[in-house]
Amino acid sequence: MLEVQRTNSAPLWQRLFLYLTLSGLAVTGSAWMIIHYATGGFSGEHRPYAMLHQLMIYHGILGYVMAIATGIFLGQHVAAGWRAGRSRATGVSVMILLGVLMSTALVLYYSGNDALRSLASLVHQILGVGVVLAIPLHVAQRIAQPTRAVRAMAADSARETNSSAV
Ligand code: HEM
Ligand code: HEM
Repeated sequence: MLEVQRTNSAPLWQRLFLYLTLSGLAVTGSAWMIIHYATGGFSGEHRPYAMLHQLMIYHGILGYVMAIATGIFLGQHVAAGWRAGRSRATGVSVMILLGVLMSTALVLYYSGNDALRSLASLVHQILGVGVVLAIPLHVAQRIAQPTRAVRAMAADSARETNSSAV
């Protein structure tokens, strides 16, 4: 039986930790956006402040957890993936998205400037949706990429076809 070789797999607990944290951020972030825009945005008359605040408490806590999850992947996975030369473009995209999300989150927490905060909020929301799409894409790429074992098998059968044709 063909054994599929994987070059940079992460342990199950690390993957679950990342996926659950990302899902929590996506759920709380999306719920905030739906309620915020459905009630007229920041100037909405019926803006449910308490509910939006509650969502942001959970979201902010999950943001810290996401920093830990990202750190776990930075430690070993990124370097090994880079050396293997696979999934670099989507891997770097995920890193940039997470970096900008964490930076804009700091602006959301600490900036006293309304214009800067609005800009950070917009960028954060767009990239938030972006990272929720980019991480599954990065993970799915490993399924789409032929593994070394599959490439070796294809090369073997091409060689056999060539030699039998001679
Ligand atoms: C330059 C940066 C990166 C590179 C080159 C890279 C490379 C790779 C490669 C080659 C795989 C396929 C693994 C396999 O064959 O089984 C993979 C999968 C994966 N990557 Fe990355 N990666 C990078 C960044 C990241 C980051 C920053 C995260 C998360 C914060 C991440 C999360 C994952 C996950 C969850 C998988 C699926 C692992 C599995 O199914 O076992 N990667 N990556
Ligand atoms: C690395 C990942 C992320 C981190 C560290 C992070 C962190 C934060 C922090 C600290 C805040 C401010 C909380 C507050 O005002 O009390 C925030 C706001 C927000 N985040 Fe995230 N977040 C991340 C990912 C996401 C994702 C994936 C989404 C959406 C799918 C999202 C959507 C939002 C929204 C809608 C807000 C409210 C913006 C505003 O108040 O104007 N975030 N985030």
